[in-house]
Amino acid sequence: MTAQETLLVRVIQKQAEAEGITSIELARADGAPLPPFSAGSHIDVHLPASAGGLVRQYSLCNASHEQHRYRIAVLRDAASRGGSVGMHDAVHEGDLITISTPRNLFALHPAPHTLLVAGGIGVTPFLCMADRLQRTGASYALHYCTRSPERTAFASELKASPMAANVHFYTDSEGHKLDALALLADAPAGTRLYVCGPAGFIEYVVNTAKNLAWPQDHIHLEYFAAPAQDTSGDQTFEVRLASTGKTYTVAKDTSVVHALRVHGVDIMTACEQGVCGTCITRVLEGEVEHRDMYLTEEERASHEQFLPCCSRARSKLLVLDL
Ligand code: FES
Repeated sequence: MTAQETLLVRVIQKQAEAEGITSIELARADGAPLPPFSAGSHIDVHLPASAGGLVRQYSLCNASHEQHRYRIAVLRDAASRGGSVGMHDAVHEGDLITISTPRNLFALHPAPHTLLVAGGIGVTPFLCMADRLQRTGASYALHYCTRSPERTAFASELKASPMAANVHFYTDSEGHKLDALALLADAPAGTRLYVCGPAGFIEYVVNTAKNLAWPQDHIHLEYFAAPAQDTSGDQTFEVRLASTGKTYTVAKDTSVVHALRVHGVDIMTACEQGVCGTCITRVLEGEVEHRDMYLTEEERASHEQFLPCCSRARSKLLVLDL
């Protein structure tokens, strides 16, 4: 696997969907159809240089059969490192921006019943997934939790759609909260659970499922950034470049990317959070401690590649194909 191919797209529509949430529609700059995608996919958006040149991941929230547009939605988060504010303030209708082709780390699997559980902006992948489940006649329900009606993006769209009867809204300000225990305890056997939202919300729902002994492979989650790691046990290790044979030390409080950069060895990065895949590097020897959200379980288990912006070594030495 390599970092995703890129596309030049135009912002064809930008509109407010709820308090602090804006949707952005993109079409290919050359007018050609966009690459097809499957429900649950996301794209990397390369923010303009005026917005810091960051790269951020957004779920596609339009129907997955559409190729004339991609639609994403962005929550303005003043506490973020600038990506969401840049999307709100520095991206305008008519602008040309670069995106990656879609990648799906949150794909639907066949199941007798599917539960989609969203917290806030975490609803975005589920708009597309619920549409897909509806079109294929599958049994499913979308449970959508927000703080208030004003922050509930796409509520009117969902209520007016063929999915309406399968969508359940919960709003904190109205004292109507999701009871995950009741929901998950009553789910039919074989149900698959998909959860997306803030880390605390995901933990609440996933821990409830685990406490009810749900099988691990029927619980699927999508974070917007790699969750915080316990770094207290981090150790120093070494990396060797196969091309030169030179060995460099990675101190316990730095990343492989930063340790190499000091010595003039630059690995291209974007998110530096283990989400986008830009820094992917082949590993020729050694065992990796993966900390990214990009590789699949099989890819991690092979120890053949890693994301050096965040992942570390379990062995004393990693030999890199650099
Ligand atoms: Fe994004 Fe490493 S820079 S995964």
